[in-house]
Amino acid sequence: MNQAKEQWASRAGFIFAAVGSAIGLGNIWRYPYVAYENGGGAFLIPYFFALLTAGIPILLLEYSLGHRFKGSAPLTYRRLSKKFEWLGWWQALLAFAISTYYMIILGWALSYTYFSFGTQWGKDTEKFFLNNYLGITDSFWNIGGIQWKVLIPVFLLWAFIYFVMRQQAHKGIERLTKILMPILIVMMIIITIRGVSLSGASAGLNVLLTPDFGALSDFKVWIAAYSQIFFSLSIGYATMLTYSSYLSKDTDLSNSGLIAALGNSGFEFMAALGVFGALGYLATQQGIGVDEVATGGVGLAFIVFPKIINQFPGLNDLFGVLFFGSLVFAGLTSIVSLLEPGVAAIRDKFNISRNAAVNTIVGGSAFVSILYATKGGLNYLDVIDHFLNNYGLLIGGFFMTVATAWFAKEANNMRAHINNVSDVHIGSWWIICVKYLTPALLLVMAGLNIIDEFKAPYGGFPYSGLISMGWGALFATLIGGFLLQAARWKEEDSISGKIKEGA
Ligand code: ALA
Repeated sequence: MNQAKEQWASRAGFIFAAVGSAIGLGNIWRYPYVAYENGGGAFLIPYFFALLTAGIPILLLEYSLGHRFKGSAPLTYRRLSKKFEWLGWWQALLAFAISTYYMIILGWALSYTYFSFGTQWGKDTEKFFLNNYLGITDSFWNIGGIQWKVLIPVFLLWAFIYFVMRQQAHKGIERLTKILMPILIVMMIIITIRGVSLSGASAGLNVLLTPDFGALSDFKVWIAAYSQIFFSLSIGYATMLTYSSYLSKDTDLSNSGLIAALGNSGFEFMAALGVFGALGYLATQQGIGVDEVATGGVGLAFIVFPKIINQFPGLNDLFGVLFFGSLVFAGLTSIVSLLEPGVAAIRDKFNISRNAAVNTIVGGSAFVSILYATKGGLNYLDVIDHFLNNYGLLIGGFFMTVATAWFAKEANNMRAHINNVSDVHIGSWWIICVKYLTPALLLVMAGLNIIDEFKAPYGGFPYSGLISMGWGALFATLIGGFLLQAARWKEEDSISGKIKEGA
């Protein structure tokens, strides 16, 4: 198998790659607006609840599956239980689908890094983003042709990522994260210190930290917390499983998992402090409330932040470059982790070279990304992201636990595997989570969400769009999973041999 040859150069290299995967747009772009929309300070409660009841248990489950069965996601699940190969494909396809629009947001961030020189967005930052830059069309089904201002930076980034991905993981991904992560952390510390020391910052921090406990009775807030944890920690889409399959036999797993989880959440809070400090500053400058300057969704980073940078007392260009540049750096180390599960999966199943797999996965994702670089692209991105995140990741997580604990009945063995190689031993709480608590909670979350989905159209989008693109993308990845499971393994005999050996 080609894939078995992949191995990180060191444990530190793996931790860099795992933390680099986790820390991404989810931390800087997504977390602040999700927290803001879902109860501000009170959001910390469901957030921690989700981290403890699903984030850390599933992260450790992915680590142990990848490490023990030593394969890409489809091969690993097949070795766990023949019936579940589709789950590996589904999760790898979810990662692939997310990569197609994740790169678009990176393209926006790259453009905005450039626009920071001379604050080219001008005074009306909303008009600049939506009309001048994205050229957004007036209705969902008006696709409006390609927006070159978006597609060109996106393709520059694709070219770079293609170059990184063609190299073996320890040369491409590991080196990329080792170089970019330290720079990113320094950039974010500077942004946060500046953000919280601006005059009026405390008004913003109050909004972020003051709990609106009323929000906790709304189940949507809890779903938002679970989705945020899955997306941000890079679980439920085969990334951590694939990465841990590249580890040497006796690498400590629980310690590495805790470093990734705490590092990711720590970074998320730090970014949110900086962003909300800056929002408080803007509100104070304009003499209005923070709720009037903050918008939810995409706009927080690409509309409100340029506005804040306009108001800075000095070094405006520099802070623009720091903020948008940090989005680019954080995103680059994550997009590779969205592509690697697919690369590993088709290498294993079809026994092809890394180059051939990278051509297919990176080429395929770049091709699909053109859809979001159209003038209607923002709408499609919004809808598809909503369905894949809220359903795909959570339902996939549910099946992971069910496959391991109930079908293969391997929960105890997985725990023993982690404890055999790790200094910090995990207790029976993990079994309780993987067997009962985590699947039950994920099922309830997804179920409630589906009921809610039919009450009102998401984002006010037409049902035709929600069904064809949102549900469509979700089911396409799922059906794709079953079709790929049905395809023949190249070298079937060696696979079965390996399955016995792996198990
Ligand atoms: N985990 C990555 C992020 O947070 C995908 O952006």
